Amino acid sequence: MNAFEQQRLILGCMRLNKLSQKEADRYLNHVIDKGITYFDHSDVYADGECERIFGRFLKNNPGVRDKIIIQDKTCIISGKMYDASYEHIMSAVDKQLKDLATDHMDVLLLHRPDALLEPEEVNRAFNELKKSGKVLNFGVSNFYSGQIELIQRELDEKLKFNQIQFGPAKAELVTDSMMTNMIQKNGSNRYSETLDYCRLNEMRMQSWSPLQWGNIEGCFFNNPDYKELCAKLTEIGDKYGVDKAAIAVAFNLRHPANMQVILGTMNEKHFDQMIEALNIKLSRDEWYQIMLSAGYPLP
Ligand SMILES: NC(=O)c1ccc[n+]([C@@H]2O[C@H](COP(=O)([O-])OP(=O)(O)OC[C@H]3O[C@@H](n4cnc5c(N)ncnc54)[C@H](OP(=O)(O)O)[C@@H]3O)[C@@H](O)[C@H]2O)c1
Repeated sequence: MNAFEQQRLILGCMRLNKLSQKEADRYLNHVIDKGITYFDHSDVYADGECERIFGRFLKNNPGVRDKIIIQDKTCIISGKMYDASYEHIMSAVDKQLKDLATDHMDVLLLHRPDALLEPEEVNRAFNELKKSGKVLNFGVSNFYSGQIELIQRELDEKLKFNQIQFGPAKAELVTDSMMTNMIQKNGSNRYSETLDYCRLNEMRMQSWSPLQWGNIEGCFFNNPDYKELCAKLTEIGDKYGVDKAAIAVAFNLRHPANMQVILGTMNEKHFDQMIEALNIKLSRDEWYQIMLSAGYPLP
C-alpha cells in the first residue's frame, strides 16, 4: 500500500465553490496543516468550478502540490448521460489537469457506471494516461462487484479504489450483509456483496457523504427522523469528549474494511471536530448501538 493509500480521511471538494478564493486558500491550508493531504474532486462539481478554485489555490501556494494527493473523477455529463468512452476519458483528463493547474493526478475514478461502457476502451484510455504520466492510479465509484469484475478482467491496470456512500444514516453497504435471507426491509442484500468483493480483491473502499441521510438530501443532524441517532452519537461523544460528528466518522472508521472517509465540510470548526475521529476506536457495543439507533434492524 502506498503512503497515500494509508490515509483514512480525505477532504471532498464538492462544496468548495461555497467559499471565496481567499476563504478556500485559507481553509485548504488549514486542512493540510492538520495532516489531511488527500483531496477528492470531480469535473461535475459546480461544473468544474471546484477544480478551478483548487487549481488557483495550488498556483497561490507553490510547493503544496508535491505534498498532496489529488484524486479526480469523470464520466457524469450532468443531466444528459454517463460517458466512459475513450474519447471522453482522454479529453476530460486534459481539461481536469488544466483546471487543477497540475501535470498529473494521483488517482482517477470513473464516477458512475456508464451502461454503454466498453472495457477495451477504458483499458486503452487508462494505459495511455498511465504511460504519459498524467494519471498514476485508477479506480471506480458507485460500481457493484459484477460491474467491477466485468471491466477489471480487460484492464492492464488494477482498479485500486471504489467510492461508495456510507455513514450512520446510510449504512446499507454494511447492514445489508446481516439481512441475507431475511424478509425485512433491506432484506435483498443489494450492497454488501460489493464491500465483500472489494475486500477480497484488495480494492480500497472510500465512503462518500458520511453525514447525509439520503444521497444529497442533507446532513442528518438537521433531520427530526434521526433524533434517536443524534442523541446516541451525542451520548457516545460526551463519553469521549468529542462532538457527535466525530462519532459519526468513527462509525465508518471502526469497520474492519479499513475504509477511507471523505469529509465534505467547508467549515473549519466542523473539520476540526470531525478529525478527532482518528483518535477514537468505538467498542463493538457502541458501534451496534449507533446502527440500531439509526433504525437498521438486527434480524
Ligand atoms: N462518488 C460520488 O458519487 C460522490 C457523491 C457525493 C459526494 N462525494 C464526495 O464525498 C464528499 C463529501 O460529501 P458531502 O459533502 O455530502 O459529505 P458530508 O460530510 O456527509 O456532508 C457535509 C455537509 O454536512 C454539513 N454539516 C452540517 N453540520 C455539520 C457538522 N457539525 N460537522 C460537519 N459537517 C456538517 C456540512 O456543512 P458545513 O460545510 O457548514 O460544515 C456539509 O454541507 C464530497 O465532497 C465528494 O468529494 C462523492
